Amino acid sequence: MTAASQRTLAQVIAGRSSAKTAHFMPCQRTYYPEPLTLVSGDGVYVTDDAGRRYLDFFAGIAVLIIGHGNPKVRAALHEQVDKIVHTSTLYLNEPVISLADRIAGLSPAGMDSVFFGNSGTEANELAGVLARHFTGRKDFLALAGSYHGRSVWTVGVSGLAAWRNFGAEPANIVFVPNAYCYRCPLGLTYPSCEIACARTIETAVKSQPPDSIAALYAETIQGVGGIVTPPPEYYSVVKEILDRYGILLIADEVQTAWGRLGGHLFGVNDWGVMPDIVTSAKGLAGGLPISVVITRREIADSYPGPHINTFGGNPLSARAAEATLDVIQEERLADNAKTMGDALLAELKAMMGSHPFIGEVRGRGLMIGVELVEDRVTKRPATRATEFVVNACKEGGLLVGRGGQFNNTIRIQPPLTITADHVKHACGIIGDALRQAEREFVAA
Ligand SMILES: Cc1ncc(COP(=O)(O)O)c(C=O)c1O
Repeated sequence: MTAASQRTLAQVIAGRSSAKTAHFMPCQRTYYPEPLTLVSGDGVYVTDDAGRRYLDFFAGIAVLIIGHGNPKVRAALHEQVDKIVHTSTLYLNEPVISLADRIAGLSPAGMDSVFFGNSGTEANELAGVLARHFTGRKDFLALAGSYHGRSVWTVGVSGLAAWRNFGAEPANIVFVPNAYCYRCPLGLTYPSCEIACARTIETAVKSQPPDSIAALYAETIQGVGGIVTPPPEYYSVVKEILDRYGILLIADEVQTAWGRLGGHLFGVNDWGVMPDIVTSAKGLAGGLPISVVITRREIADSYPGPHINTFGGNPLSARAAEATLDVIQEERLADNAKTMGDALLAELKAMMGSHPFIGEVRGRGLMIGVELVEDRVTKRPATRATEFVVNACKEGGLLVGRGGQFNNTIRIQPPLTITADHVKHACGIIGDALRQAEREFVAA
């Protein structure tokens, strides 16, 4: 992210002067010059407090996998709310027992031990603890451009400069280049690079004392980092190196699990590898807070605890999660993510012909990034134009996200329930927004 893309302090303070936001801390990131207040959601649409309806192609940061207000999730919640709404992890509850069985059954063979929390951050914290106990090592590898959460440790393993802002990040972390082919950190070109970025992991490991690295944290596709999508061979090269050195792979599937990528329930399996630990959160409970760490029994057993989470394994979240998984499976939403994702990718790529700001369209399933540049040759990031386009989309009735190293990538992560009409409608609004940006800024 460049300084130009960040709101100035004056803008932030001005944005806080309205009665609505007077008591929020200025550090809270909101979208748009005037933050949106959403009052209801229905399928792939949300409505704000002025009664305006928006097509929601960001889904609460990739959370509303089955859309807003799904009737099955609502019915499950209504039923559960009359029974018990909280137990803590000190006690079991029926929904969480059932969900644990369900997830163990859906996970790759052997990955049958789970722990439930509330957020992706918590899941990634526990994953690191498990890796340390299992390997007896204390250091970690992490990828440039990554995002793993907002606790001290997970900010530490996040390689995205804009989010490494706590003032003193933890030690014991070695960063390696990410598979950002559009801006290859090694200056190479795929496929002649032979996945050199993955091979730098071995160099990094060798530069550390022997047997010091416990695990690599890797988002299957980097979401906040700008939908950075590794080539098909990437994870098999990575895993082969890690295995040789006894290093675990922590697959951060906070954004990519549950069919979003249009293939397996865990996106990393689409790359043909089996991680050692999977963390997930976001979409699992259809909008209610939940996270899960999934691993093999031997790794789980290496950490006898005690471990606890007051709100972990919440019965409402667990019921919502089972209902969400029912909908994903019954309605074959991973298949729909593939069909609609392919259509969106094709449409957005076709728009490159008439919209010079588009530098690259990338992604998989319904996790798509459109990186905007001022000049396709120099690839100078069009950060201000991206902010303009995201705002113009909102004005046109479409919510999309934003991310990337330079905050110049439009993030498209809608519910997996979208139809061809939604794809067409969204692309029309994005096209209009780009045309407005082209008039406003000078595109090469
Ligand atoms: C890949 C990834 N990991 C972890 C997190 C942190 O999740 P949470 O915000 O639920 O703590 C996020 C959040 O965006 C994420 O995208």
